[in-house]
Amino acid sequence: VEDQVSSRPAAPSIAQWRLYSQASLGLKEYWYPVASSASVRRGSKSVVLCGEQIYLVRNGGRVFAVQDRCPHRCVPFSGDGGKGAARCDFAGHLTCRYHGWVFNLESGNLAAALTDGPESPIAGKVMLRTFPVQERWGMIWLWPGSRPAGPLEADVPDEFLLPDSRVYARFGLRQGNWRYAVENGFDEGHAKYLHRDSLWTAFMKLPGWNKTSIEREAGEPWLSRVQTEVHFDSDYPGLGRWPRYGFWKRSGHPSSERARATCSVRLPGLLRVVYPAFRIYEWYVPVEEDRHIYVQVNVRQARGLDRLKWALYYSLLIRGIQHRFLNNQDAWMVKLMPDSHPERFYRPDASITGWRRLVEQEARDYTTVEQAS
Ligand code: FES
Ligand SMILES: [Fe+2]
Repeated sequence: VEDQVSSRPAAPSIAQWRLYSQASLGLKEYWYPVASSASVRRGSKSVVLCGEQIYLVRNGGRVFAVQDRCPHRCVPFSGDGGKGAARCDFAGHLTCRYHGWVFNLESGNLAAALTDGPESPIAGKVMLRTFPVQERWGMIWLWPGSRPAGPLEADVPDEFLLPDSRVYARFGLRQGNWRYAVENGFDEGHAKYLHRDSLWTAFMKLPGWNKTSIEREAGEPWLSRVQTEVHFDSDYPGLGRWPRYGFWKRSGHPSSERARATCSVRLPGLLRVVYPAFRIYEWYVPVEEDRHIYVQVNVRQARGLDRLKWALYYSLLIRGIQHRFLNNQDAWMVKLMPDSHPERFYRPDASITGWRRLVEQEARDYTTVEQAS
């Protein structure tokens, strides 16, 4: 309103990106990791993915995924957190605790309404929505889309598919829309200021500013930030020199090497950070408009003692320090960003517009599916 009154052009915002602005609940025609296998080792778990509340239940050693709501009176199978409101009385079937409707876990078909007798006419006439689900690399993967699920292999980094790959994952629920979290991950400018005082970068000499080009790798799904110039301390007119490095920040220090990272992003919101010694993948999994699941993944091809050494390095250094301290700063900023807001971009934000363009041009479009159905 203010803009109209003053007849200034409206400030640009996310709304100018058609598909992207509609995707507040996520790009749905993709596979997403939602939980560790260990968290559904026995029993069940409720997750929210792209706005859908989904009940994961293990039966006969296999994980099934169905809508977490009984079609009869809408009781959630997951109950109220402490106590589930469903049972598996019959192999491959789920029974609602309220009136005993029994659903086939594979097809979702209502197999029986126990309290209406074996001849109940409603059997076969009610469906529970089921979701394609897979369990791979110690993680549970869901497809929240309306189209038939594609191959899971198409939605994971190639590295997952190499022989001897061992995948380490850490799941966390975070505040803020998934899009702002992806944008923060691929954001060119922030690390050089926000992460300057994290424990992970304590001994690193971080640059003050870079020049970067945003490049699509040929034949690859990744969009990458490629550094063309790196600047450490510079003179800022009227202000002086920045940054000022403590004597303990040495560019030759081995930990400074760790600071050298190449960052890439791909659909549907997966980040890859390549450090000299290891790589991190980060999924920003859409939950509701104001929450996402943050999945940090490390993949390593190793056997025997090497695998053991890596597990130790990973748990102490990567999981213990990098994952925790660096990313808490990111989580803080994503949480602080308001729902929809005007934006005023500067040069380093080419990373963000590049990612949005990728979504507009290449995301599996879900809007046409929804309109058609
Ligand atoms: S609410 Fe589930 S059987 Fe009635
Ligand atoms: Fe960051």
